[in-house]
Amino acid sequence: MEEMINEVARILIESKYAVALTGAGVSTESGIPDFRGPSGIWTRNPEAERRAYEVYEKFLRDPRGYWEEVVSGPSILGDLEKARPNPSHYAMAEMERMGILKCIITQNVDNLHQKAGSRNVIDFHGNAFKLRCVRCGERYPREEFDLVRIVGEGKIPLCRKCHYPLKSDVVYFKEPIPRDVYVRSFEEVEKCDVMLVAGTSAIVYPAAELPRIAKRKSIPAVVIEVNAEPTPLTEEGISDHFIQGMTGKILPKIVDEIRKLVIQT
Ligand code: APR
Repeated sequence: MEEMINEVARILIESKYAVALTGAGVSTESGIPDFRGPSGIWTRNPEAERRAYEVYEKFLRDPRGYWEEVVSGPSILGDLEKARPNPSHYAMAEMERMGILKCIITQNVDNLHQKAGSRNVIDFHGNAFKLRCVRCGERYPREEFDLVRIVGEGKIPLCRKCHYPLKSDVVYFKEPIPRDVYVRSFEEVEKCDVMLVAGTSAIVYPAAELPRIAKRKSIPAVVIEVNAEPTPLTEEGISDHFIQGMTGKILPKIVDEIRKLVIQT
């Protein structure tokens, strides 16, 4: 393990434009369950996953019914308000401060990369602390709306720009990735010479396509994968380096090794 940590630390130091792709695995050590790990939300409750595929259509068909359901119970991800970043998030924020990590594309909606101090974060699947208009793309901080009162009065939150019903910024199954996020993410992948993939099962598209695109570039990016278990990226040889284990342990070790190597040079 130490050898691999040393090798990926060198690769990151020598990189020109390292980009990260993260998934739910980087937040499990903050107490937020992942989806497909051994105690994941979908693993434990396949019915919940089936229902999750219906939410976007429900919003389009019946926004009031959608909002009644949203305000009636806690998010499926538990109470995200209380969640705090863990060493995985802090390590990646440190890599950005070092000038190594230029951008994090995250599939997580928990805002923990931002809470840990990362500044260039793309919420590929949206952000649970925002609302979004699917017609004009406008986003608003969720706290600007007293949703329980609004829905309790039989109303729904409307876009202040085009007056279309708002929904959570979270991207549901069968919902298109918002265009601005999609374009920015692909631009980042186009620029990267190293991609650090952490805590994702890499099976949900189009997010899972990003490391594959990075690999298919005329000058292929080096893909470093950190995950508790091998994934299709590992099995298909997309990952040039696979470090198996907990991101909360491995990512800080990589940062420590970078610091050691930088001081030595
Ligand atoms: N350290 C390293 N790996 C971990 C850790 C950890 N502390 N905890 C979990 N993992 C691994 C799991 O073993 C699994 O391989 O992280 C991966 C998480 O995979 P998923 O649960 O599928 O989460 P993710 O890849 O982010 O899912 C993608 O699916 O349901 C949708 O929109 C949802 O954004 C999500 C998308």
